[in-house]
Amino acid sequence: MSRSDRFLKACRRESVDCTPVWMMRQAGRYLPEYREIRKAHGFLEMCKTPELAAEVTMQPIRRFELDAAIIFADILLPLEPMGINLEFAKGEGPVIHNPVRTLSDVAKLKPVKTKESICYLLDAITIVQKELRGKVPLIGFSGAPFTLASYIIEAGSSKEYANTKTMMFDDPSTWHTLMEHLTGVIIDYLNAQIDAGVNAVQLFDSWVGTLGTSDYREFVLPHQKNVISGIKKSVPLIHFAHGASHLLELVSAAGGDVIGLDWRCDLATAWDRIGHEKAVQGNLDPISLFASENVIRKRVGDILAMAENRNGHIMNLGHGILKETPLENAAAFINAVHELGKR
Ligand code: CP3
Repeated sequence: MSRSDRFLKACRRESVDCTPVWMMRQAGRYLPEYREIRKAHGFLEMCKTPELAAEVTMQPIRRFELDAAIIFADILLPLEPMGINLEFAKGEGPVIHNPVRTLSDVAKLKPVKTKESICYLLDAITIVQKELRGKVPLIGFSGAPFTLASYIIEAGSSKEYANTKTMMFDDPSTWHTLMEHLTGVIIDYLNAQIDAGVNAVQLFDSWVGTLGTSDYREFVLPHQKNVISGIKKSVPLIHFAHGASHLLELVSAAGGDVIGLDWRCDLATAWDRIGHEKAVQGNLDPISLFASENVIRKRVGDILAMAENRNGHIMNLGHGILKETPLENAAAFINAVHELGKR
């Protein structure tokens, strides 16, 4: 067995020669070769230029023994064709110039002709698959409805999600209309990536952990179920909800072949709560990669011990790799997983 099939086998809970590993945000700023390209190009420009997106997708695969590639793109890309005016301002992260706050704002959102509006992403997938030649599988991804809604309501990143929750609590019919619109967009966006040739997809619900359990059940769960049931079943789906340890049962009930775990929960307990008929992905605290190699190995060993060599564990960080991460520590993490995770 080799890097070509470990990850997909683990997604399907089949036996593997060793635990597979990849890192969220592995194509990004901690890599000097990424920063070199980024000097000459804007972030959105890189996403929209298939040759550049493909090159940056391949960079971590050339450098490390990773078991999967993830296409270089962003969860916010499907927003632009909906009529959202998106900018990545220097040092500020994403900024949206026309936030959605009322029913009439929602009514103005355009239905998205996904294939035409994200040709660049589908072309990047084709290029990457040619370059990978089956060496490792390629993951496509999208933001989940809540996380995308939070960006377009808050006009960017947020700490408290006050506008988002206010719409949800005060004007539930506008909220549900917006979530339905996003659901359709996300289904098309992921199915287009599957048609273009990705081997798995991940749904990022990065900020849904801000919700209490009953609000998740009422305002998110039905939409999340609709999204997941609309996505083609020909490839495995990873459902990652960050900061959502309190929501695990509901996240799992929404669907997904693999449930992504952040570092706040204990993997063994989390897997018991989810049920062993699903695979799990995670969950090293990304800050662990700032520690010494011995500490990294110890912490990898602790997570592997909790997975008990059971089929269906994919190692990952509990959230994206940080841009200050030393390269040799990322390598130490990946090597430790393959060594300590041998069957
Ligand atoms: O994982 C990968 O390597 C694939 C590429 C990828 C990016 N964004 C590239 C990126 C993926 C999977 C994402 C997902 C994404 N984007 C999420 C969900 C993942 C998570 O962290 O929970 C979110 C919330 C976003 C939205 C986003 N994109 C923000 C908030 C920012 C700015 C914040 C920051 O870190 O600067 C981005 C920009 C972004 N997306 C960068 C990269 C490599 C940095 C852009 C740069 O080069 O300046």
